Amino acid sequence: MIALFFDCDTGIDDSLALLYLLGRQAGIAADPTGANPTGTDPAATPVTLVGIASTAGNVPTDVVTANNLAWLRVCGRTDIPVHRGAAGPLADDLRTTEDTHGPRGVGYADLPGPATTAHQLDAADAWIAAARRHPGTLVGLVTGPLTSLATAIRRDPELPALLGRLVIMGGAFHTHGNTTPVAEWNVSVDPEAAAEVFEAFSAPRTVDPVVCGLDITESIALTPAHVVALAEAAGSTPAERPAAGDPRGLRSASDNPVIRYVVDALRFYFEFHHDHDEGYIAHLHDPFAAMVALDPEVVDTIPARVAVELAGTLTRGMTVADERSMWPGGPNARIAVRTDTEAVFAELIAVIGGYARR
Ligand code: BDR
Ligand code: CA
Repeated sequence: MIALFFDCDTGIDDSLALLYLLGRQAGIAADPTGANPTGTDPAATPVTLVGIASTAGNVPTDVVTANNLAWLRVCGRTDIPVHRGAAGPLADDLRTTEDTHGPRGVGYADLPGPATTAHQLDAADAWIAAARRHPGTLVGLVTGPLTSLATAIRRDPELPALLGRLVIMGGAFHTHGNTTPVAEWNVSVDPEAAAEVFEAFSAPRTVDPVVCGLDITESIALTPAHVVALAEAAGSTPAERPAAGDPRGLRSASDNPVIRYVVDALRFYFEFHHDHDEGYIAHLHDPFAAMVALDPEVVDTIPARVAVELAGTLTRGMTVADERSMWPGGPNARIAVRTDTEAVFAELIAVIGGYARR
């Protein structure tokens, strides 16, 4: 059994990561042969999402919390606890990015209000409780700033030694940043937190976090054709492709609420990328990291010692990787460098679409 703790700043791509995790928890599996009419795989390793930490980032922590609770309501999984994180980063004032994810963090999706409230444990204490409940086996997944995890480690320095695996979406190593020329969003929002986490995982007896930076996550570029396939996998009316010359036309006539919300969220995300001259695509950073958390073999990694620039006036928030053992101490991370992009899309579409179909 994989016990997974998910720390996110939901967020459009965090939303898709959550749906993917819920689909895997429901036993939904990709079946390229088409020989599996139920869409579930009884032989797959069972997954339990033991808790969700809502960390401030894309939108403020209360909005992240409300979005996570709303998705759980839509999916009928209000039993999964959602834990509110701190109001902002360790040192800086909070910056949010409504222009990327919409004023409510979920693009144009009009999610229902939450049916439940956040758990009494805050996000950092929830990390600690989950790690202590599953010592040596808990899989941690962070797709937002590292504020909650760094706070948890400050409160319980043994935490890094308790994790079985950690996957982080963050950083940019051999490529440009997406927030400054050199810094990626999740690290840039709270560089002190990211620096403290990488430092904490330098200790002996800790696992090396797998870091999915922009180098690899920007290769997971969703197109409208993928959205059509997703709707079809859900047995739903296919989303319309945008007409040639009118990139803003993605619509879903679906009566499947999950697909409708997803298409409405993604339309905003496509428009954001289009407005930034990246084409009518959407980078699925966080769903990719979720897949790596459950199936580490989907990605090739290289060992490195990762540190975060805190002082540079031009480079604050930059992730710097020593891949040649120039610094003392040895590697403290594994950087994701290669994956089979088509296989990633096949898996995401089958699992999220199959989950929406139930
Ligand atoms: C990361 O930034 C956020 O806006 C996304 O949700 C993702 O986690 C990509 O840099
Ligand atoms: Ca995110």
